[in-house]
Parts: sequence; C-alpha cells; structure tokens
Amino acid sequence: MNTFRADIEEIRRRALEKMDDGAVTASYKADREKVISVLNEVLATETVCTLRYRNHYFTAKGIHSSGVEDEFLQHAKDEQEHADRVAKRITELGGRPNLDPEGLATRSHVQYGTGEALEDMIKEDLIAERIAIATYSEIVRWLGNDDPTTRRMIEELLGKEEEHADDMAKLLSRVRK
Ligand SMILES: [Fe+2]
Ligand SMILES: [Fe+2]
Repeated sequence: MNTFRADIEEIRRRALEKMDDGAVTASYKADREKVISVLNEVLATETVCTLRYRNHYFTAKGIHSSGVEDEFLQHAKDEQEHADRVAKRITELGGRPNLDPEGLATRSHVQYGTGEALEDMIKEDLIAERIAIATYSEIVRWLGNDDPTTRRMIEELLGKEEEHADDMAKLLSRVRK
C-alpha cells in the first residue's frame, strides 16, 4: 500500500536531481536529441510555409484576387503560430530552436515555391500541405507513447494542415472555373 507513496518520493527526488532539464523528467522515454532535431525540421517547415503564404498574400493582393489573399494571410498566421509552438516545445526539451536562415530550405520538408500565377501559387500551397500531412503523420507514429506532449502538439498541427489542404483544394477548383 505504501508502494505508491514511495514512488512519489522517488519521482520527487529525481525531479529535484536534475532541475536544469526543465520539463524533461526521468519518465521521458524518447531520444531527446533526436526529437529536438526532428522538431527543428518541423520548425523549418512551418517557417518556410509562413514565408510562402506571406509571399502569396502580397502577390495575390497585387493581382486583385477577390478574397483569396485573405485566405493566404490567415494561413500565414496559422503557420507562424505553429512555428512558435514548435520553438517553445524545443526549449522545453532543453534544445535550441534553429531559425538560422542558412540551410532553412534544406531543413524544411516543403519548398518555398516559385509560382507567379494565382493557380500555380495555390497548387504549391496544396502540395506543401500534403507533404506536411504525410511527414507529420510519420512523426506521430514515430513518437508513439514515448513523448505524449510532443505527439499531441504534432497531432494538432496535423489537423490544421488538413484544414489548410482542404481550403486550398476548394480554392483551386474555384479559380479554375
Ligand atoms: Fe503548419
Ligand atoms: Fe498549413
């Protein structure tokens, strides 16, 4: 009956032992360095998505595309919010968010894009969202139960990217008419 109590004492002792590790305790099962490096790729992905959507927002504004630019801007804001959440999680794990512009495109899972016509821009966004959906699904599977907090965050991002992909698919059929 006192076993649970003893466990609590042990947990407390271990938590106090390594205060410098912040949110990471001895019950953390994942390979922390590996998770940080994967999260830095996600951070690069979200940053590239932010920049691409912002570029599309300003470009679409120039070609008077009735409401399309608002959608680009909203997505840019969502991706920036994702990037911030990922950066925060990296610091919780004791890592350092890599926002170095050098190598950003290489670390990212998705591309920045070069499309100039509205339809091409939307296609690029749709492709990027579909890649993010595929890679984030992989990350969720890889994390399993080893880091539930990071997994939950990636799952939330994944849900949003699915909405984004849906938005872009609808937009694409709208501009093709
Ligand atoms: Fe995102
Ligand atoms: Fe997205």
